[in-house]
Amino acid sequence: MMNTAAVQVSGLSVRRGRVRVFDGIGLTIRRGQITGLLGPSGCGKTTLLRSIVGVQRISAGEITVLDEPAGSPGLRHRVAYGTQGSAVYGDLTVRQNLAYVAAILKAPRSEVDRVLAEVDLFSHADRRADALSGGQATRVSLAMALIGAPELVVLDEPTVGLDPVLRAELWTLFHTLSEGGVTLLISSHVMDEALRCDRLLLLRDGRVIADTTPQRLLADTGVTDPEAAFLALIDRDADVDRARSRRSRREANG
Ligand SMILES: Nc1ncnc2c1ncn2[C@@H]1O[C@H](COP(=O)(O)OP(=O)(O)OP(=O)(O)O)[C@@H](O)[C@H]1O
Ligand SMILES: [Mg+2]
Repeated sequence: MMNTAAVQVSGLSVRRGRVRVFDGIGLTIRRGQITGLLGPSGCGKTTLLRSIVGVQRISAGEITVLDEPAGSPGLRHRVAYGTQGSAVYGDLTVRQNLAYVAAILKAPRSEVDRVLAEVDLFSHADRRADALSGGQATRVSLAMALIGAPELVVLDEPTVGLDPVLRAELWTLFHTLSEGGVTLLISSHVMDEALRCDRLLLLRDGRVIADTTPQRLLADTGVTDPEAAFLALIDRDADVDRARSRRSRREANG
């Protein structure tokens, strides 16, 4: 039977410099779904995504991606990672950027045309990347991630800086990919994007404070707006923190 988990993380601990970002967290990302990774700036979204794609040094734990250990050479063609901030070369055309990635991945040249069609950029294929609008440049980054038809696409804040119309367009594209069987893991700190995901992982301060669906998030917190729902969960989590520190102070005082 095929494993229904695309990603399985257990006991993950990561330090970055002096910061202990994760201290033994666990989570599962399901195949064929769009999972949103949400949380405030600095909570560890990028660090988690880096760990999953195998470019982050970890101090403990196990990460299995598509049934192989994270970072295995066999995953190179099966997992795509779109980093935070653009990785597009401004002085190359859109097509040249894509051809460059195809060459690195030893993917057939036909992949360039396939992904251009997928992100609807044919008409801009011969334009220099530095002459594109923000939304077009984002679609080039996404096209670069899609070269080689990866099974798991990991995107770090792909919609940041885009206006609501472009964001909606990009989400339509994510859903099309998902319907084609691609598993997507997408980070964002824009809470209204949460409602567009099949599943949600909410991080706070290096901990998973909710592993849920958009519907359950709203039902559990009794609000209609995801931003308010997230704030309610953070409040709840902060209460738990305060109770924990009161208890440990009491214990310390004997
Ligand atoms: N290169 C680094 N060296 C030391 N600490 C780092 C480094 N990169 C990140 N950190 C710290 O690790 C923690 C998690 O950072 P991370 O980049 O994963 O957060 P994030 O949730 O992606 O934030 P954002 O929404 O701002 O992108 C933060 O406290 C951050 O300051
Ligand atoms: Mg980040």
